[in-house]
Amino acid sequence: MIILKTDEQIEKMHAAGKLLAQVHKELRKRIVPGVTTMELDKFVEEYLLERGAYPEQKGYQGYPYAICASINDEICHGFPRNEPLKEGDIVTIDMVVRLDDALADSAWSYGVGEISEEKQRLLDATKESLYKAIDQVKVGNRLGDIGHAIQSYVEPLGYSVVRDFIGHGIGRNMHEDPQVLHYGKPGRGQRLMEGMVFTIEPMINTGGYEIKMDDNGWTARTKDGSMSAQYEHTLALTKDGVIILTEQED
Ligand code: MF3
Ligand code: CO
Repeated sequence: MIILKTDEQIEKMHAAGKLLAQVHKELRKRIVPGVTTMELDKFVEEYLLERGAYPEQKGYQGYPYAICASINDEICHGFPRNEPLKEGDIVTIDMVVRLDDALADSAWSYGVGEISEEKQRLLDATKESLYKAIDQVKVGNRLGDIGHAIQSYVEPLGYSVVRDFIGHGIGRNMHEDPQVLHYGKPGRGQRLMEGMVFTIEPMINTGGYEIKMDDNGWTARTKDGSMSAQYEHTLALTKDGVIILTEQED
């Protein structure tokens, strides 16, 4: 069941989203060769707690950390670690912020120092696919238009769309209906309505879309060892159109 949100709820989620965007802007400066993702995890947790917010992923179904930090061939739910990031790595930081009982969810991929052209192209295409999908978020369109916008953009570039993880409605709970697939057919699926709040979070691989799970039971990586990137925003569809609740203003 899709729970439509009031303007007031959306405003509170927007406040959570603005704080989350601020955290990503802080991370931008801190993601350099030599930093560890465990240090980034500590930074995020403290930054949020100091501001009266909570890193909602910590404790969610037993997940142990404030952030997910997924490096190179890791698709999502990478555990922060004590090993330093290296020049040329790509890392996706995903987090959910709870502020004043409202949630927002956003992941962002970063290059560490100088990265290869191949990796830069993957980051650019993945981010572009998210914004092409956001362009489809309007009353009267359907969920299939969102998935199609992503798939039809990245596949001709030789990339694949991960199937096993999807976007989701978000509200009181981190995961609500609807399920938002990052592939699909235009004009199909659930109609988009005013008051819907959900994420779009394409995970795009340079190789095939098949995954394999690590022994920790959480981390998914590409089966073929190819590189993976992800950009995620939380979106609200209002009478004035789509609002990107987690947008990072420069
Ligand atoms: N932020 C993730 C999402 O997009 C949730 C990660 S699962 C968690 O849905 F356990 F790490 F929280
Ligand atoms: Co999400």
